[in-house]
Amino acid sequence: MEQLALFGGPKTIQKLFKTYNPIGVEELNAAQEVIKSGVLSQFLGAWHEDFFGGPKVKEFETQCAEYFGVKHAITVNSWTSGLVAAVGAVGIEPGDEVIVTPWTMSATATAILHWNAIPVFADIDPQTFNLDPKAIEANITPYTKAIMVADIFGQSADMEEIMLLAEKYHLKVISDTAQSPGAFYKGKYAGTCAHVGGYSLNYHKHIHTGEGGILVTDDDEIAERLQLIRNHAEVVVGDKGVKNLSNMIGHNFRLGEIECAMGIEQLKKLSGFVESRQALANKLTEGLMGLHGLQTPIVRPDRTHVYYVYPMILDIEKLGVSRDQIHEALQAEGVALSKRYQNIHLLPMYQQKVAYGSRGFPWSSDICHREVNYRKGICPIAEQLNDSTYLGFGMCMNELTDEDVDLIVEAFAKVWHQITILQSDKI
Ligand SMILES: Cc1ncc(COP(=O)(O)O)c(C=O)c1O
Repeated sequence: MEQLALFGGPKTIQKLFKTYNPIGVEELNAAQEVIKSGVLSQFLGAWHEDFFGGPKVKEFETQCAEYFGVKHAITVNSWTSGLVAAVGAVGIEPGDEVIVTPWTMSATATAILHWNAIPVFADIDPQTFNLDPKAIEANITPYTKAIMVADIFGQSADMEEIMLLAEKYHLKVISDTAQSPGAFYKGKYAGTCAHVGGYSLNYHKHIHTGEGGILVTDDDEIAERLQLIRNHAEVVVGDKGVKNLSNMIGHNFRLGEIECAMGIEQLKKLSGFVESRQALANKLTEGLMGLHGLQTPIVRPDRTHVYYVYPMILDIEKLGVSRDQIHEALQAEGVALSKRYQNIHLLPMYQQKVAYGSRGFPWSSDICHREVNYRKGICPIAEQLNDSTYLGFGMCMNELTDEDVDLIVEAFAKVWHQITILQSDKI
């Protein structure tokens, strides 16, 4: 076998993979049509027929509701906005505790803080990277009011167990399904099993509109509150006759007509994009499965994976080398992998408890019922994965061919067959 590229041998993958770009002529035509119409947005921040937006917003929302099988779909200008709206809409009060995963993009937890509520981090399942229901239950206190679940990398969390916990402790559940549109959980679309959920439409997701998000819910009251928070609630509630003023602090979270026109075209392609990712991921798994000490993605039998990220776990003891060494060797062969994801609880904001202003609000104020701990050690599984065993491939960011997958497999095989050289190498 040829020498590892790390030590001067030939690089297995000489080319750069094609970057994912799902925008086609259909989206171009749809956007053009909107531009020609001159109506780029038709929202009005008042109780008026345009409070709900223009024709493309309404059409996209109707199609999303139909597609995902929910009563209401509400578009927003980013999924970060969607998460903020969701926390407000479920009625979270300042000082309430919301249990959240540390293995997610930061906005999942920041949305909680936005309402001066307190994120409480619970550990994840070591196989699916999603919140572990047992860890959730261990973190429930009298102050817990909601669970913020993320369906990370493309696979749903254990929603049945989580919804049972929610029922038992009278909690609301928000599902951050940014990364998993089109994934199934027990026959339902991921994101639709919580009280409110939704998807990101940013440019590196399966379907996108540049920026954007879609909230989904079956709850009429939550839907109304989401629409209000999206569009200047405080000025609308009076004329609309809304009695519950809690969290009726509005924003401009409105998505434009161009984005929604493109979203309509993207939605038609979602299942095809998902299937192509699944086919490539399955091929990759077939190729990597025999490599000792490498755990390919584990997909639970009652759900499907849509592979926003293709996650792997290294058995460092079995391999006798560090993740850094493997990462470096694969990188040298031309496989771009990330060796970390997120441990949100360890961000400076949580470590120093400095968010709003400089004096520790909300943690230092008397709305906070107790001292919440963010120290390293509270989520040992998420921490170990991030510190030493996780390896991820950005499946959704690349437009791979079958030959590209063969090359990735070849690169892994080359590194694995020469692992003893890495073992003796003290890099
Ligand atoms: C899990 C998760 N939550 C939230 C977000 C935020 O979404 P957006 O970029 O649309 O605001 C992302 C974006 O990558 C994400 O992956």
